[in-house]
Amino acid sequence: MDKKMLAALNDQVNAEFHSAYLYLAMSAHFENIGLPGFASWMKVQAQEEMVHAMKFFNFILDRGGKVDLPAIEKPKGTWKSVSEMFADALEHEHYITKRIHDLVALAIKVNDPATQSFLQWYVDEQVEEEKSAGDMLQKTRMVEKAPGALYFVDREAAARVFTMPAGVTI
Ligand code: FEO
Repeated sequence: MDKKMLAALNDQVNAEFHSAYLYLAMSAHFENIGLPGFASWMKVQAQEEMVHAMKFFNFILDRGGKVDLPAIEKPKGTWKSVSEMFADALEHEHYITKRIHDLVALAIKVNDPATQSFLQWYVDEQVEEEKSAGDMLQKTRMVEKAPGALYFVDREAAARVFTMPAGVTI
């Protein structure tokens, strides 16, 4: 594999694990402020991020590349409000989408159709990622001044469950 492509894929393993860290930090914070439904929602999100990371990890190895695992950046740990957390989550997903699109551009530049094809799953996944963070931001902005309503949205958030995507082993 092209050296720049390999380095960029390794960077993305790190970025996806950092995403998992960020959402775990948010999950812990929600638990601490008595919102277990949002805490559970964020834990599921963190599990999905670990899958994203491991798909890159497995792909690098399948292509005969060397996996390089640098330290994972410490995430932010406190937030002023519920909606601020989902606003941060949405902003983070926009950042990850940009990274994925840059990876696609690099795969085209170095003429690596296998990586290009592999990345299509992430291009589609990021549409979902931005939508789910955006939906939660909209909902929590509407209800955060009304504790009764926030309680029900928190309970609704608890319904989210993690499902392993088909064909993925971690
Ligand atoms: Fe792996 Fe939430 O993007």
